[in-house]
Amino acid sequence: MALLEVRDLSVQLQTKSGFATAIDRLSYTLDAGEILGIAGESGSGKTMSALTLLGLLPQHAKVSGSVKFEGQELVGLSSKEWQKIRGQNISMVFQDPMTSLHPMLSIKTQMTEHMMVHLGISEKQAIIDAEELLADVRIPDPKKALASYAGQFSGGMRQRICIAMALACKPKLLLADEPSTALDVTVQAGILTLLNRLREEHNLSIIFITHDLGVLSSITDKLLVLYAGRETESGLTSTILQNPRHPYTQGLLDSLPQPESDEKLLKSIAGFPPELGKQPIGCAFAERCKFAEARCSGTPLEPTYLADNHKFLCAVDPFHSRSTQGVEL
Ligand SMILES: Nc1ncnc2c1ncn2[C@@H]1O[C@H](COP(=O)(O)OP(=O)(O)OP(=O)(O)O)[C@@H](O)[C@H]1O
Ligand code: SF4
Ligand SMILES: [Mg+2]
Repeated sequence: MALLEVRDLSVQLQTKSGFATAIDRLSYTLDAGEILGIAGESGSGKTMSALTLLGLLPQHAKVSGSVKFEGQELVGLSSKEWQKIRGQNISMVFQDPMTSLHPMLSIKTQMTEHMMVHLGISEKQAIIDAEELLADVRIPDPKKALASYAGQFSGGMRQRICIAMALACKPKLLLADEPSTALDVTVQAGILTLLNRLREEHNLSIIFITHDLGVLSSITDKLLVLYAGRETESGLTSTILQNPRHPYTQGLLDSLPQPESDEKLLKSIAGFPPELGKQPIGCAFAERCKFAEARCSGTPLEPTYLADNHKFLCAVDPFHSRSTQGVEL
């Protein structure tokens, strides 16, 4: 049994003009110790897809489909039941490291109160465990760090503290929402190394969210590319990097910096994704796609399934011939 099994998950959010689909029939699985990367441009639904796993969606959001964690259905849980899932089973490092720590409370207060409530341990034990966690994420002098406040740390250190806090109740699944985006390249590399080590040492499963496919290529086992709330392509990271089948994935890969290239300007995908609530019935990428044909629009697309759980949503499949895995299942 997979640790996490998401099937046909859809999320509708309330907007000024009624309900709009932010997540549209998402399906994926995650095993213990695996790292899944979720990539996509701003507004594609990356954060919403993670918040759904914690029952933290905006008020009035409608959720359908199924999310099973260790076999337990999470869709439809009461707030009391969600409390048992959050922290101890699934926890999250939120998108903005600058605002996710309270500026007026010491790191000790923020870490240990959480541990005492959720793990039922004494303050003394919580302090010992918090020091260990901070050492584990390579915070120098954990004792001093516990007595300090968020403003006394650099962005990279704050993000490490957020990761330590997210790990405080020994979750099996960590959701890391753009944990390194605001950081410089060296600090970002340190966070990636840290997450990879935590996965190896604790058999932690991680969902790593970012708009940067380059970052995901180095640490993830699997990738899921989101566009306008839809899963455009998913599969093993190695497969997707070598044989992307969706034009949007190819566009994201083309826009990565090429170290050996002389080109000074990065290629970007022209145009913008459709606004929330204005996704077309057919391919949501059609307006920006140079391969678009009449059959791409007007009717819902059906995914194509290939070997090794490689899946993509494109009616034309323009890169079929170059693929080494072109056998449809
Ligand atoms: N509280 C809300 N109510 C209504 N719509 C929302 C709300 N929060 C986010 N949205 C919309 O839901 C869609 C998905 O947002 P989400 O935050 O998941 O995107 P994202 O992929 O994480 O983007 P980013 O890379 O900018 O973080 C967007 O169109 C966003 O504007
Ligand atoms: S379905 Fe058509 S428009 Fe959409 S990505 Fe494929 S080729 Fe492009
Ligand atoms: Mg986001």
